[in-house]
Amino acid sequence: MIVDCDPGHDDALALLLAVGDPRLRLLGVSTVAGNQTLDKTTRNALRILALAGATGIPVAAGSDRPLIGELTVAADIHGSSGLDGPDLDGPVAEPADGPGVELMRRLLMASAEPVELIALGPLTNVALLLRDHPEVAPRIRRIVFMGGSTERGNTTPYGEFNIVTDPEAADVVLRSGLPVTMIGLNVTHQALATPAIIDRFRAMDTRLGTVCAELMTFFAGAYLRTFGLADPPVHDPIAVAAVIDPSVVHTVHVPVAVELTGTHTRGATVVDLHRRTGRPPNADVAVGLEVDAFWNLLMTAVRRLGEATR
Ligand code: RIB
Ligand code: CA
Repeated sequence: MIVDCDPGHDDALALLLAVGDPRLRLLGVSTVAGNQTLDKTTRNALRILALAGATGIPVAAGSDRPLIGELTVAADIHGSSGLDGPDLDGPVAEPADGPGVELMRRLLMASAEPVELIALGPLTNVALLLRDHPEVAPRIRRIVFMGGSTERGNTTPYGEFNIVTDPEAADVVLRSGLPVTMIGLNVTHQALATPAIIDRFRAMDTRLGTVCAELMTFFAGAYLRTFGLADPPVHDPIAVAAVIDPSVVHTVHVPVAVELTGTHTRGATVVDLHRRTGRPPNADVAVGLEVDAFWNLLMTAVRRLGEATR
């Protein structure tokens, strides 16, 4: 798989799951501006991979802004570094030469079999890849993205952050004709980093487990301050879990459109669950989550990595 991300506390857990589960082979990571500016999301991706002992995985920086309009970061949720909480200072590798989209293209064209493309931030890089390099389409087995919602949003009343940040990019992906799975807030809000979850990370008694506990502790404080939620939802690792074990999520194959012009609803994912529009289905939309199975996948991967990198 290839992961495109904007670390980000939940992106960090997703990267650890992608590296730590032996059923996956992480070919490379591209970064995008979103939770924080591109320089910070790129540094954070490198720091997490270094912490996981996965320094051989190429990381390349992608887009520093959405296709249209300006970037608004989520410093209120992820802090000024994008990974506030633990002390993660220390040397990190340099990002690979060349832009993120070129890394994605090169990895896809070199792969002997089709690749899962997991998008955990604004879909800018993925949209540019599909627009500028149509030759990669047959090399993509499926695009699984964390974004949107069948219900309300988290950034505007009906807009989820990744989609609201770049609605045009999400529209390109959903119109691509490729197999697409949407992991929206309606299921990610079932995966809450409760105090018991944080204790499970800390009880691993490894540096990685402690870092995860500290990341989630910061994330919890940010969600409480911003949304009045006691326990933060870990959005992104669910997209990776859905690739490892598709039975972790329950999906329906329905039409999904992105609102591009609504005065109050720009960036909303309009999910036609009851087929009222007559439009053809274009995405597998997650409507249920096996919560315990998800957490067990993530904890097993983090424990495995932590013990290997004590
Ligand atoms: O709305 C949640 C999504 O936006 C997550 O991917 C989070 O990391 C941010 O990118
Ligand atoms: Ca993200």
